[in-house]
Amino acid sequence: MRILVIGTGTIGRAVATALSAGNEIISASLRSATVKVDIADPASIQRMYRSLGTLDAVVCAAGQAKFAPLIQLSDADFTFSLDNKLMGQVNVVRFGFEHVQDGGSITLTAGSLAQTPTRGSAAVSLVNAGLEGFARAAALEAPRKIRVNAVSPPWVTETLQALNMDLSQGLPAAVVARAYVRSVTGSDTRSTLKPSP
Ligand SMILES: NC(=O)c1ccc[n+]([C@@H]2O[C@H](COP(=O)([O-])OP(=O)(O)OC[C@H]3O[C@@H](n4cnc5c(N)ncnc54)[C@H](OP(=O)(O)O)[C@@H]3O)[C@@H](O)[C@H]2O)c1
Repeated sequence: MRILVIGTGTIGRAVATALSAGNEIISASLRSATVKVDIADPASIQRMYRSLGTLDAVVCAAGQAKFAPLIQLSDADFTFSLDNKLMGQVNVVRFGFEHVQDGGSITLTAGSLAQTPTRGSAAVSLVNAGLEGFARAAALEAPRKIRVNAVSPPWVTETLQALNMDLSQGLPAAVVARAYVRSVTGSDTRSTLKPSP
């Protein structure tokens, strides 16, 4: 398969590694990958797709949302979060349909803060829950049997380590990546896949 993986960070790297055997992985990201894309900019997503030709699968493991106490979240913080992690991934699907093969797949990244919020997660929880709903609905209207799923990762162990946080809640990126592999290689659609040990 020709698989586009947007995001080369903690999760994107693990997903690319997990899918690398027997597949062509094309990595894209804001700054560090060879293929550059800013998912917050619809024209940038369209340019990327046009430059790549036909794909069998697209995985998006990119998208930022602002984590801060609700009282401190500004209009700009909400706009940033909605434009970036939410509409960025919505547009990866909308513009991706015409570039994905019959029966291919598009996999988005939400996050467990949708279902299990913490103080400071209001914008992130909003965006993650929106992504779950969008993936379920978009899959209904996907052309040519293209499948659409969201993965909802819990905290990733490597991220908790980098932030010096309690590691007990996390799952290693390699374990999280298995949910993406299932979405790309299996038959799920309209699903929110929750990585588990
Ligand atoms: N890590 C966790 O614990 C965790 C848990 C649940 C959900 N998530 C979600 O999973 C996604 C990936 O997380 P991560 O931990 O792998 O992040 P990360 O290590 O910070 O990496 C983020 C990646 O996304 C790329 N990126 C950022 N903004 C972009 C944009 N506007 N357009 C295109 N690419 C962009 C970055 O590109 P450059 O490297 O080029 O800058 C980088 O490759 C995020 O949406 C995050 O909210 C993460």
